Amino acid sequence: MNELAGKRIVLGVTGGIAAYKAAELTRLLVKAGATVDVVMTEAATRFVSAMTFQALAGRDVWTSLWDGDQRGMAHIDVTRGADAVLVAPATADFLARLTHGMANDLLTTLCQARDCPLLVAPAMNRQMWEQPATQRNVAQLAADGVTILGPTAGEQACGEIGEGRMLEAQQLFDALVAFLQPKPLVGKKVLLTAGPTFEALDPVRGLTNTSSGKMGFALARACAEAGAEVTLVAGPVCESQSSWYANKRIDVTSALEMRAAVLTALPGQDVFIAVAAVADYRPAAAAEHKIKKGAQTLTIELVANPDILAEVAARPDAPFCVGFAAESRNLAEYAEGKRRAKKLPLVVGNLVQDGLGGDTNQVTLFDDAGVHPLPAGGKLTVARGIVTHIARLMKCTE
Ligand code: C5P
Repeated sequence: MNELAGKRIVLGVTGGIAAYKAAELTRLLVKAGATVDVVMTEAATRFVSAMTFQALAGRDVWTSLWDGDQRGMAHIDVTRGADAVLVAPATADFLARLTHGMANDLLTTLCQARDCPLLVAPAMNRQMWEQPATQRNVAQLAADGVTILGPTAGEQACGEIGEGRMLEAQQLFDALVAFLQPKPLVGKKVLLTAGPTFEALDPVRGLTNTSSGKMGFALARACAEAGAEVTLVAGPVCESQSSWYANKRIDVTSALEMRAAVLTALPGQDVFIAVAAVADYRPAAAAEHKIKKGAQTLTIELVANPDILAEVAARPDAPFCVGFAAESRNLAEYAEGKRRAKKLPLVVGNLVQDGLGGDTNQVTLFDDAGVHPLPAGGKLTVARGIVTHIARLMKCTE
């Protein structure tokens, strides 16, 4: 995915062992289409050679204020036209110098002279991170509008365990991509449901479906990227699906639990997006003990589950409600029918064969103005398109 096509990123690298992760980050940025100008402090060149970054970025690397005549105004020129400066790793020393407005090497100088956003990814020994001076500096930088990414806790290069470990290259990449997205949902609260539900038959069995939750999680992420405060109510999805971008995540199993979680989280929400594939029916009663085999036929009585979306949309104080219609045929007819029946401003329709369980999707949006097909793509790209449409319908501008 060319997520950063046309973007120019200045990647500052300071002298910490995590500098090796900046090499991988450079590769990810370049692969996503960005032009990357790497600026290294003198200490950084002791950990990883400038040649490594030059090869990965395919461009000259900046290492000194005194790089020669043809680069005379590097401290200003490098950041002009850049979309962001990201310093990873950012050592305690660099953060201290930055906080105090020092400009005693190329990287601090261009940070002072920049006219684009600055993000830093601290990386240091846990004691250094915990020092009041470092904590003061980081708080001051955040107050000055610098975005602080991490650090995280874990095993450190020195063998100690604690907070101060730099985020992984992929996490920094994801955070930067998120940072660069348009922010039409700033100040809005969005509640989403995602995944399947599981309706117990007995202690080990139940009724469910093949929804992976990927589309709901991608939408939660796209809403967070757009600046919203996100609450995600997730049915039983694969454990590896992280939702770091959500402000709150509530894991549920059954439709009744999902309904209760939604109704509890609902007050104050501006948007409700029901992506979950909620089971339409549940066993009238779950057996207390495992059902034993033997009988040639087994009849299970099912009762209808409440329709969470219809219930929310019918409230007098309903947020902007978005429904999903996953159909195996007659998409337009069924999706528009659902929109009218549940009185929704927007329904996202897709054919199950185009999206369920996979990493890509092709959706069509149904609203009062008509039918809007979105281009097929990865679920996050599709989710960003849906969020843009929601923001437009809600008349949210950046
Ligand atoms: O009517 P149908 O189940 O196809 O509607 C799908 C839409 O309604 C989805 O947005 C889904 O999340 C939501 N839904 C719900 N509660 C149910 C069934 C569906 O919120 N019990």
